[in-house]
Amino acid sequence: MKVFGCFVLFFLVTCSSLSSICLALSDAEAAFITRRQLLTLPKDGKLPDNFDDEYGLKNKTFANERLKKAYVALQAFKKSIYSDPFNTTANWVDNTDVCSYNGVFCAPALDDPNITVVAGIDLNGNDIAGSFPAELGLLTDLALFHVNSNRFCGIIPDFSDWKLMFEFDVSNNRLVGSFPRVVLSWPSLKFLDLRYNNFEGELPCDLFDMKLDALFLNNNRFSYSIPEKLGRSTVSVVTFAHNNFNGCIPRSIGNMQNLNEIILSDNKLSGCFPSEIGSLKNLRVFDVSSNLFHGNVPQSFSSLESIQTLILSHNQLTGFVSEQICKLPSLSNFTFSYNYFQGLGNECIPGSKVNSAFDDASNCLAERPSQKWANTCEPVVSNPVDCSRDMCSAGGTPPSIPYTAPPKPTTIPPAPELKTPTPAPPTPREAKVLRPKGTTPPP
Ligand SMILES: *[C@@H]1O[C@H](CO)[C@@H](O)[C@H](O)[C@H]1NC(C)=O
Ligand SMILES: *[C@@H]1O[C@H](CO)[C@@H](O)[C@H](O)[C@H]1NC(C)=O
Ligand SMILES: *[C@@H]1O[C@H](CO)[C@@H](O)[C@H](O)[C@H]1NC(C)=O
Ligand SMILES: *[C@@H]1O[C@H](CO)[C@@H](O)[C@H](O)[C@H]1NC(C)=O
Repeated sequence: MKVFGCFVLFFLVTCSSLSSICLALSDAEAAFITRRQLLTLPKDGKLPDNFDDEYGLKNKTFANERLKKAYVALQAFKKSIYSDPFNTTANWVDNTDVCSYNGVFCAPALDDPNITVVAGIDLNGNDIAGSFPAELGLLTDLALFHVNSNRFCGIIPDFSDWKLMFEFDVSNNRLVGSFPRVVLSWPSLKFLDLRYNNFEGELPCDLFDMKLDALFLNNNRFSYSIPEKLGRSTVSVVTFAHNNFNGCIPRSIGNMQNLNEIILSDNKLSGCFPSEIGSLKNLRVFDVSSNLFHGNVPQSFSSLESIQTLILSHNQLTGFVSEQICKLPSLSNFTFSYNYFQGLGNECIPGSKVNSAFDDASNCLAERPSQKWANTCEPVVSNPVDCSRDMCSAGGTPPSIPYTAPPKPTTIPPAPELKTPTPAPPTPREAKVLRPKGTTPPP
């Protein structure tokens, strides 16, 4: 018990004083937290007897058993909070009416309209520092968990009883560990937002079998390749940006008929683009900037009839920028700068189309300003990649390579921006009902 106390103290102090130490939670520390969670987690759904003493439950009355459990869960959550600068959780004490707590929302239970239960927690943007105790798993009626833009650190415990979870947003915190696989066990999940944390490692393939509407993974440390199952996903918006993904864009992407927006920028993705991308009739935003893509832009891109924003900059693309693409009716931002293109159709010349921003800087385009030097272009342009034999566009799967971290920087990197590169997705209606008036939507 003593050892545990020391650890907590160490954890809390380091977490609040120097976020980078908290971020670097070692495997051993994560395992310790997990073990501790396994010890306290009520396995049969009943509260252990010692909870009666610990939370003084004997003298308290509750409208129903689920609100009693919610009280235990929220008191444990309150205990895990060690900085709450706006006093958001100030009224979470000496009060058994959990429905009156700031950020806690109650509703009739789905399976029994006669009883009231905790259906949502919304603590967005409160700068709270803390962690998620296993006891939160007692909130079995929770459908909405919004804690974005706080300072929660540690891992996401095994909340496998959150069977009604619909919107889960933990973005812009200091969470670590591998992909939180527990989310795969939530059958109702539609909106999953993990962006701006420090999750690492591989994505589970099963993630793309879920019936999600929106999936935000950007600004973490995910690596390996994007699973081949991507094409099974029902998402309309998905962001992989600013991670360490490598390998191809899976050819199955062509099956994602709900897809409106996909952001793949700033990874180590490579190879030629699969021509299957051209079958995405509803695609409005396609951003693959700052990767290692090479070869030609497939002719099929001229079938992207809904495309508005097409960002191909900072890759090693070659060949001709086709007029057919530049003429696409909704295209308003086509950025293909910082590549090795050698030619472009007349309609692709920046300024040639009203209400459209085209950027062709730093390519190998004769007679265009601001291009690369000839001796930079020559070695690339004279060795064109044959995409009909490329692993990414013509079949085959390249080996998936784990990410090896660069040497540690000596300075602490700046905190992530609150603003995200993508607009917030349309919020599902059920969630709107639960979101309190006056709180800000997720970033
Ligand atoms: C709980 O009730 C017992 C007796 O019923 C009493 O002695 C004790 O002081 C009460 N505790 C609190 C916290 O009210
Ligand atoms: C929060 O509560 C503390 C102690 O009651 C008080 O000193 C502080 O000013 C409060 N902060 C805000 C933002 O209300
Ligand atoms: C809810 O309460 C009503 C009236 O007391 C009762 O008729 C009904 O059976 C109850 N429903 C459930 C699911 O318990
Ligand atoms: C086009 O999109 C890029 C990338 O999102 C952005 O940096 C640029 O400002 C946009 N251009 C215009 C004119 O909106």
